[in-house]
Amino acid sequence: MAGVSTPALAAAVSNAGGLGSIGVGATDAADARTMIDELRSRTDAAFNVNLFVHQPPVYDAGRENAWIDWLAPLFAEFNAEPPKALKPLFKSFLEDADKLAVLLEMAPPVVSFHFGLPPAETLSALRERNILMFATATSLAEAQMIEAAGLDAIVAQGIEAGGHRGVFDPDAPDDALGTMALTRLLSREIRIPVIAAGGIMEGAGIAAALDLGAVAAQLGTAFVNCPESAANDAYRSALMGPGAYRTRLTRYVSGRPARLLGNRYFELAEDRRPPDFPFALDAGRALNLAATTAGETGFGAHWAGEGAPLLRAMPAAALVETLRNELNDCRRGAQSGPSRDSCGH
Ligand SMILES: Cc1cc2nc3c(=O)[nH]c(=O)nc-3n(C[C@H](O)[C@H](O)[C@H](O)COP(=O)(O)O)c2cc1C
Repeated sequence: MAGVSTPALAAAVSNAGGLGSIGVGATDAADARTMIDELRSRTDAAFNVNLFVHQPPVYDAGRENAWIDWLAPLFAEFNAEPPKALKPLFKSFLEDADKLAVLLEMAPPVVSFHFGLPPAETLSALRERNILMFATATSLAEAQMIEAAGLDAIVAQGIEAGGHRGVFDPDAPDDALGTMALTRLLSREIRIPVIAAGGIMEGAGIAAALDLGAVAAQLGTAFVNCPESAANDAYRSALMGPGAYRTRLTRYVSGRPARLLGNRYFELAEDRRPPDFPFALDAGRALNLAATTAGETGFGAHWAGEGAPLLRAMPAAALVETLRNELNDCRRGAQSGPSRDSCGH
């Protein structure tokens, strides 16, 4: 969870028996190194480092200027000026040789890719360092590409998921498969292990994912309100408010479809093509800064999945322990016949 996960959060998850992850998709090579160093200092267990592998953005002055002009009245509402021009706030892993060098040097146990796959020579170099590699798929076609590229596991990300959809091409039609159908489809059609992601908040959801053929579940939203996360107070209180029941997908915050808590973005007509990811994010951040300075938190990038109302705010180690106990309850419940345990059996 780029911007939300921290080395402390990932270490707490790994130390409790999960596979903790840090997202370095939006950080440069030097900050990635610092985060991996800190994570290593906090755990001897395995962990994952996640990367953004989006197609490098195309700068289109006409589109960028039209976007800035369209947002201008919102900036005016907060007595602020929109940015004069938009910058891509970070590089794709596809063009970040420095970040690759850091990963090859530091050899984290696992790396995972979001939005696409690096070229074969990058995969071979990482493989030579004994790094396990996972990638997100939102469809069978993406999963087949991941399997053909020789990766070790697939994260099957359903439409319920919080944060950015891992779609390889944000301009292609999206079949928007839910986590249940996608997990089952990939478990049947793909030979490498499948990790289910999207809307999973409790042991019951993990049990369901395992029943569908997944080897594991990946949870994001469930951990956003842990004290170890980097989420700010506005994000934490929005998570516990009515917006949790109204998550929606939009491209307006970053340029790529992402699910966030119901907020002011969803009052805007969804008929515009924003600048490419991450140019649009530059505008989104500036708007959020202007709004929060004026006391309006409704333009925050408050990513969350459809399971947000099920969130339990507690330290990460306690959450992993709770999930483990619930999963065990579900398994016992399934074996011993109908009862009303935390799994609903
Ligand atoms: C706050 C937040 C940030 C996220 N950032 C990333 C990211 O940097 N890389 C990534 O692969 N997935 C990211 N995701 C998506 C998760 O990997 C995962 O697919 C999703 O959280 C699963 O759905 P859930 O949020 O309902 O558990 C993010 C999700 C959230 C909630």
